[in-house]
Amino acid sequence: MASLANCSASAVTLTEFSRLSYLADASGVSRKCASQLSGGGKIPLGSIIQPSATLRSVARGFLPRPLRPPVRRLWWTLANRRATYVGGLAVPSRELRAMMCGLPYADDAFFITSAMSLARTLVNAIEVTRQTRIVDVGCGVGRLAMGLLLQRREATYLGMDSHDRYIWWCRRYIQRKHPSFQFEHIDVENERYNPEGKTIGEDFRLPIPDGYADVVHFWGVLTNMAPKHMLIYVSEIGRILRKGGTAFLTAFVEEQVPTWSINPSDYVSYPCVGPLHVVRYQQSYLHSVFTSHSLSVKAYSYQTVDEKQSEFHLEKR
Ligand SMILES: C[S@@+](CC[C@H](N)C(=O)[O-])C[C@H]1O[C@@H](n2cnc3c(N)ncnc32)[C@H](O)[C@@H]1O
Repeated sequence: MASLANCSASAVTLTEFSRLSYLADASGVSRKCASQLSGGGKIPLGSIIQPSATLRSVARGFLPRPLRPPVRRLWWTLANRRATYVGGLAVPSRELRAMMCGLPYADDAFFITSAMSLARTLVNAIEVTRQTRIVDVGCGVGRLAMGLLLQRREATYLGMDSHDRYIWWCRRYIQRKHPSFQFEHIDVENERYNPEGKTIGEDFRLPIPDGYADVVHFWGVLTNMAPKHMLIYVSEIGRILRKGGTAFLTAFVEEQVPTWSINPSDYVSYPCVGPLHVVRYQQSYLHSVFTSHSLSVKAYSYQTVDEKQSEFHLEKR
């Protein structure tokens, strides 16, 4: 098994990452967080404040159900009307980025550097051509897609996510301009990102044929997923990867810990906020799950991504 170099190049330091991370909550960056940042945070406050959850639920109560999706999309369009561009690509709003991965990603330079670094990790490990079939499970706001496009790499890319707003963004700002990058919303439950999504049962299948993918990207997803869903998704990775294909993923793993822990105390330097903020596994347990789905660990690097996430490259046998 090869060891990986530190690939998580970032524009802010790890200490800064930790300081900012605890302020982030996937349900939205609250006014409280914003005011905590006001003592010297680099992020303009106006750009990360979104309507409070209470305001949203009141608005939802007034609107008839059929009107909700178009009103929601109109709101998203207005919220993103001042998109900035890098290399011809729109950069997702700070609020969207912070919602997805935590406040460090609200910093433009941090986000763009991390997107480039993510793509570089992939391109350094395997040959990426127009024909390479990449499935990005839990693609968020299209960080990998952006990184690939900024490096002028086309691919046959499919991004999927349970959060409809991220997919709306990716379709509108990436797919329209780069049709070989496609995005699909999968409306499944995640207590943190999509609590009202459909239940994921044993019979759950990603909408992808067996052995389709050359690459499955699963970055920062196991870290915020219920352990029972991890078992189903790892099995799905094993199913959709072609023989010899590679899965790239991150996870919180340690040796002397319970099989799995949700929001363990005294682990990360920031307090866990909300459900599934940190899901950690015992390393040997996670390896056994990989092995049972014909996935062998080709390369591994301990705690090299963000704070304490370890990186795995798995090969389908
Ligand atoms: C921390 S973000 C990482 C996003 C992206 N992979 C990146 O590195 O920029 C985790 C993403 O996984 C998505 N997600 C969580 N559970 C999921 C599920 N069961 N199916 C699909 N997407 C899921 C969330 O909506 C969120 O966008």
